[in-house]
Amino acid sequence: MSAVPEPEQQRLDALLVEKRLFPPTAEFSARANAHDPGIYARADADPEGFWAEMAEGLRWMRPYERVLEWDPPHARWFLGGRLNVADNCLDRHCEGPRRNKAAIIWEGEAGDTRTLTYQQLRDDVARCANVLRSLGVARGDRVAIYMGMVPETVVAMLACTRIGAAHTVVFGGFSADALRERIRDAGCKLLITQDGAWRRGRVVPLKASARDALQGVPGVARTLVLRRVGDRAEPVTIPGEVDWHEAMTGASPLCPCEPMDAEDMLYILYTSGTTGKPKGIVHTTAGYLLGASLTHRLVFDLKEDDVYWCAADIGWVTGHSYIVYGPLANGATVLMYEGTPDFPERDRHWRIIDRHGVNIYYTAPTTIRTFMRWGADLPARADLGTLRVLGSVGEPINPEAWMWYHEHVGRGRCPVVDTWWQTETGAIMIAPLPGLVATKPGSATRPLPGVAAEVLDEGGQPVGPGGGGNLVLTRPWPSMMRTIFGDDDRYVRQYWSRYPGRYLTGDGAKRDEDGYFWLLGRVDDVMNVSGHRLSTYEIESALVDHPRVAESAVIGRHDDLKGQAVAAFVTLKESSEALSGEALKSELRAHVAQKIGPIARPDEVYFTAELPKTRSGKIMRRLLRDIAEGRALGDTTTLADPAVVQHLKEQYEESEGA
Ligand code: WTA
Repeated sequence: MSAVPEPEQQRLDALLVEKRLFPPTAEFSARANAHDPGIYARADADPEGFWAEMAEGLRWMRPYERVLEWDPPHARWFLGGRLNVADNCLDRHCEGPRRNKAAIIWEGEAGDTRTLTYQQLRDDVARCANVLRSLGVARGDRVAIYMGMVPETVVAMLACTRIGAAHTVVFGGFSADALRERIRDAGCKLLITQDGAWRRGRVVPLKASARDALQGVPGVARTLVLRRVGDRAEPVTIPGEVDWHEAMTGASPLCPCEPMDAEDMLYILYTSGTTGKPKGIVHTTAGYLLGASLTHRLVFDLKEDDVYWCAADIGWVTGHSYIVYGPLANGATVLMYEGTPDFPERDRHWRIIDRHGVNIYYTAPTTIRTFMRWGADLPARADLGTLRVLGSVGEPINPEAWMWYHEHVGRGRCPVVDTWWQTETGAIMIAPLPGLVATKPGSATRPLPGVAAEVLDEGGQPVGPGGGGNLVLTRPWPSMMRTIFGDDDRYVRQYWSRYPGRYLTGDGAKRDEDGYFWLLGRVDDVMNVSGHRLSTYEIESALVDHPRVAESAVIGRHDDLKGQAVAAFVTLKESSEALSGEALKSELRAHVAQKIGPIARPDEVYFTAELPKTRSGKIMRRLLRDIAEGRALGDTTTLADPAVVQHLKEQYEESEGA
């Protein structure tokens, strides 16, 4: 498969030969939540029966009548059932011994801490739900949340859930333009934001961006604003703003949970796809909650007294499923940290683990690689004795990083669960159950019980051991996305038309002789930069939006730390305006940051007179990737003008000083 980059292929081949295997210890297996290997076969033999059995763990207000209606590619799960997600995450725990258990242990970047018990969190959520109602939010409405890593973000999400409004959380690193686009697309009625968020001791001006985003968005009449940084924020006023604390002080903690249909929308989360416009991924109520809670309990082997920490940002799906919905549905104690791993020092995560006695730690490979660069002596100085399970998510984890994580953080004692999934899948799909599955560094191992995956060639045939192909999921699952908000055609086209009846993940994968899955990264025009999904087209659109740019092609090239780095090839319009190459490059990089957010800022910009295109005018990104990764050029026979790419390569090598 041409999409598997050559060095990746060689690296994997070497690994498959090595076959390092880490079986679970007898002690871990004996105590594991999933300890019966028969669970896989049982789920395979009768998937609907399996999901029905698992759904008994949820609290229903009305029982469902049917497990699944599958009208490919549209699925409806637990038809006729009624429940409320906030009721499952909070109220049911408050009726028993978990009432006074810590739901959230939060640590601010400055070191301040707060603990919210389940009862306190429930009361705050109910108050906030009443505030939302008083601001005109009703069942079925959409609410945008643009906040940082503070407990109030969780409160806001669950308050929406409580009254049957869908939230759309927008990552605080996105720009005003990106926020506006999402608020518009989702048709939000209210925005919840905060004055500013702490990041490395500086203030991220969320409220100022929110104000800019709301220009020309008449649908949002009110904005609820949390004060977090106070005087440190730039004074900004948003018309119709309401102060969070004032509103909450007067609000009643009595607010019954709205009985929702199993298939009612729970939230929309925007993610990058293969066009310039982000996709609003729609998740619904029962199936999503089941997927998030079950995987959280089994993959992380959650125990009642555990302190669980997912270090992702709440603005991404990992934060939704594994900071909020999964853990709270399981009555877990969730640790939440506001800031970055290097503030004030590079040992912050290890200090947090020791300070709060964290047992389960879940982070991204890019963070692990950063820790590797900072050196093993930092975790070595910490105790880390409470850790029991380590998780990884967001991108393929290279075996070196896996081993480092296992040795220096887990001290050889903790299983490492590499969890493959997507915004679209709602919950983890491929990962080891740590008491049952032997792990191999770099492999996400096998699909979870009830999940069916295959690696297919271009013709739709399963690829044998060692071969690369497209990863597909061959069976519907409860937490699957239901549609793209406002664009069901795109849902059908994008995910289900390549191999009818099977879900196309957009990832390349390989299987080895043991049937283990090895993820190879995206095979479409989606990049993964430090675990963040970015679309090449989205960045290209931002570039051509600049008055000097005629055309652009963006690619993700391999980067040791970030997984991928963004390289932009740009052709300029004829212009008399003099601006030096370097100045224009910085201007273009800043332009992209302003249009999308700092995470999308290209690492490199190259000017070129022409882009390599096929005779039908399609830009050949594969060749640009070859150039940017310093490889021999692949097949150029389909190019309209092979000289273009040769010229580009020479230019590139010159600028690299090669
Ligand atoms: C990648 C994040 C390899 C993959 C949960 C997927 C991974 C995309 C892994 C989804 C993993 C995520 N191994 N690749 N364990 N986890 N990915 O929607 O390319 O932000 O398609 O969801 O991240 O990114 P998203």
